[in-house]
Amino acid sequence: MKTLVIGAGNMGLTYAEGMAQSAMLNRRNLMVFDKSADVIARLRDLDHFDVYESLEDCLPQADMVFVAVKPYHCEDLFEEMKPMVNKEQIFVSLMAGVTIGKIQDGLNVKKVVRAMPNLPAQVGKGVTSYTESKEVSRVELLMVRNLLDTTGESIHVENENYIDASTGISGSGPAYVFYFMNSMLEAARKMGFSKNDSKVLVSQTFEGAVELFNRNDLSPGTWMDRVASKGGTTRAALDSMDDNNVKDLIKDAAYAAFDRAVELGEEK
Ligand SMILES: NC(=O)c1ccc[n+]([C@@H]2O[C@H](COP(=O)([O-])OP(=O)(O)OC[C@H]3O[C@@H](n4cnc5c(N)ncnc54)[C@H](OP(=O)(O)O)[C@@H]3O)[C@@H](O)[C@H]2O)c1
Repeated sequence: MKTLVIGAGNMGLTYAEGMAQSAMLNRRNLMVFDKSADVIARLRDLDHFDVYESLEDCLPQADMVFVAVKPYHCEDLFEEMKPMVNKEQIFVSLMAGVTIGKIQDGLNVKKVVRAMPNLPAQVGKGVTSYTESKEVSRVELLMVRNLLDTTGESIHVENENYIDASTGISGSGPAYVFYFMNSMLEAARKMGFSKNDSKVLVSQTFEGAVELFNRNDLSPGTWMDRVASKGGTTRAALDSMDDNNVKDLIKDAAYAAFDRAVELGEEK
């Protein structure tokens, strides 16, 4: 299965690196194309995969094509790709808000997988949701999944509505966690901890809590009750959050991202 990644920026390069390091593909089967001369020069120095500066040299021989350019570049790119694609190729789009229908029309192809990755893919801890057009077979979908999993975990979703919804949870989600971390870092600094100690206190707290959550079947609510005793310090903090309606504000934020993802899809 010859695989081509188009657009070697944050996401495209992350996927290319993940795939290059997996047992799924050997170097001969992984191609990367970008239009930026700087990017091409840097990748050639890196020497992790074969880098192409012309689509004619790589696109026709690809079985699977990952598209990882910014959504506003997709129309120009599709125009350029269209004369070189064929109906057996599978197109995996990582582009936020670009619908399967738009990709099928833009390229005049049928087999499309739309995926929503997230930033921790860069450290192999990403989560990608994905869905497909009906022309993609089960075997083909399994191959796509195996490649997506080289950057972390993936979940298959029934339709594109869930891709927009997962944008509000996991796609934009790392930023919510950083927002929370930022507030805790600011509080730690205000209490007098050094920058470094604040970082250790906050990052270990997040990492430790996630590890506990993952190792057991207990709900976050049960864990909160385990940490918070009546009249104690944690209860004071949780009561303060409840009084300020933080729980609903976080849900509203996730919905704001979801709504914006739907809106962006409709704009294009
Ligand atoms: N970053 C994230 O956390 C994240 C999360 C979820 C989804 N995504 C999706 O992933 C996609 C890529 O995002 P990104 O952050 O990786 O973008 P990026 O860093 O800007 O990377 C895109 C790369 O593609 C190149 N490019 C643009 N037009 C091209 C063309 N016609 N042919 C070949 N290469 C082309 C760009 O070159 P120039 O810089 O010269 O234009 C750049 O090197 C986006 O559609 C985004 O919605 C990203």
